[in-house]
Amino acid sequence: MLRILLAVFVLFSSVRHSVSYRPVIVMHGVLAGASDMDSFVSMIKTAHPGTEVTDISDYNDANSLVNMNDQVKGVYSKMKPVMDAAKDGVNLVCYSQGGLVCRGVLEKYGHNVHTFISLSSPQAGQFGDTDYLNFLFPTFTRDNIYLFFYTDAGQEISVGNYWNDPFHHSDYLSKNKFLPSITNNAPQEYKDNILKLQQVVFIGGPDDGVITPWQSSHFGFYKEKSDSEIVTMTEQEYYTNDVIGLQTLNNAGKIKVYEIPGVEHTHWHTNQTVFNDAIIQWLD
Ligand SMILES: *[C@@H]1O[C@H](CO)[C@@H](O)[C@H](O)[C@H]1NC(C)=O
Repeated sequence: MLRILLAVFVLFSSVRHSVSYRPVIVMHGVLAGASDMDSFVSMIKTAHPGTEVTDISDYNDANSLVNMNDQVKGVYSKMKPVMDAAKDGVNLVCYSQGGLVCRGVLEKYGHNVHTFISLSSPQAGQFGDTDYLNFLFPTFTRDNIYLFFYTDAGQEISVGNYWNDPFHHSDYLSKNKFLPSITNNAPQEYKDNILKLQQVVFIGGPDDGVITPWQSSHFGFYKEKSDSEIVTMTEQEYYTNDVIGLQTLNNAGKIKVYEIPGVEHTHWHTNQTVFNDAIIQWLD
């Protein structure tokens, strides 16, 4: 009798594990690669044994600077077979720049993503003097690099594709070939694709140190002609006009925002507390 019970228990627990967790796709950030997400993948597998995790290993390291539209296309081709094989859909966790690659994929292509977790991603763009910027473009400053980024050559570089200079907003809208096209000027089809999501989770915090303003991780950004005043997501024109469906999702209770202090940019994906408090419960 005990043996039968045990067998039944083992059967049920293996069935539970094989059906209850959707596959997870993970996408790394800029100047980083798939291996940087190893500990994150382990945290998922430890918390939810049996989860199939795909850690996207394209556009690693220096290749992470390839323009965003190409990355979106390339990453989609890697995500598609995983999505096609998942009849109940997949979950997506995308870190930093990866969060914009993933949003590009979601908007431009059909998908079956259930939950999209954006982990410290500059969803509304970036405007900050950071070590990354100084390392890549030592001869420019925050205030003049738009002269390079908002050119055809500058648009070949990923960072240029989400550079959002609040003092040159009309140049941003007309010359940036990526972020405005999936945020401010997105066609109806992109909105329809976003509305297929069941859950969106934005995670970020004030001690990030790289995402600037840090509120960009929550879809807020500097007010035009200011580098201090913040327009929050719900006050943004693309929100009030519901251009990409954020308002619809939010009204349906499908957007969760976490503001977590004490986490520097390069620690989000390795911090077990962040994982336990803000991530794992969404990966069902
Ligand atoms: C991990 O995250 C918690 C908040 O959830 C924060 O207080 C702590 O400082 C973080 N630790 C590191 C090393 O980032």
